[in-house]
Amino acid sequence: MTALRELKLTPIKNGTVIDHIGNGLALDVLRIIGINEIDRSSTVSVALHVRSQKIGWKDIVKVENMELSSRKVNAIALVAPTATISIIRDFHVREKRPVDLPDRVVGVLLCPNASCITNQPEPVESDFEVARRKPVVLRCTYCERLVDDFLHHLA
Ligand SMILES: Nc1ncnc2c1ncn2[C@@H]1O[C@H](COP(=O)(O)OP(=O)(O)OP(=O)(O)O)[C@@H](O)[C@H]1O
Ligand SMILES: [Mg+2]
Ligand SMILES: [Zn+2]
Repeated sequence: MTALRELKLTPIKNGTVIDHIGNGLALDVLRIIGINEIDRSSTVSVALHVRSQKIGWKDIVKVENMELSSRKVNAIALVAPTATISIIRDFHVREKRPVDLPDRVVGVLLCPNASCITNQPEPVESDFEVARRKPVVLRCTYCERLVDDFLHHLA
């Protein structure tokens, strides 16, 4: 009964659960969510190093009254590819899906190439295509620079 351990975290009425986050990555996921985006009166639970049947050890983040934009889901998919996202409505799981990475990732990362057009004053949004999936490598569609260190290049 895995649910028993997770009772340590307060159930939420409405919100988002990000489960099966790779061990040690919950704080990076919180950084992607953006602590300032979370309503001050909402409950946020973070569990680090919880036993998981599926991935050994995992982290969990539960945020009340918040939904993730697709950009944030893409960023989480890059940093924590094993994560699942559940939408909670009236204490029940309404929807649960693994994070998945689309073929193009727009506006989520900064190109590491300082002279890339996406790093110039004109408003050109970053745009990467998936060059490789396992492990994930992205390629800038403008300058072709490859990126595999996503945490340090989040927009
Ligand atoms: N009301 C709630 N408040 C907070 N977290 C919840 C609530 N209901 C479900 N969860 C969490 O949402 C996630 C998905 O719920 P579900 O019941 O599908 O979990 P599960 O049976 O452990 O499935 P799995 O771990 O295979 O995704 C789990 O992390 C669960 O702990
Ligand atoms: Mg579970
Ligand atoms: Zn570039």
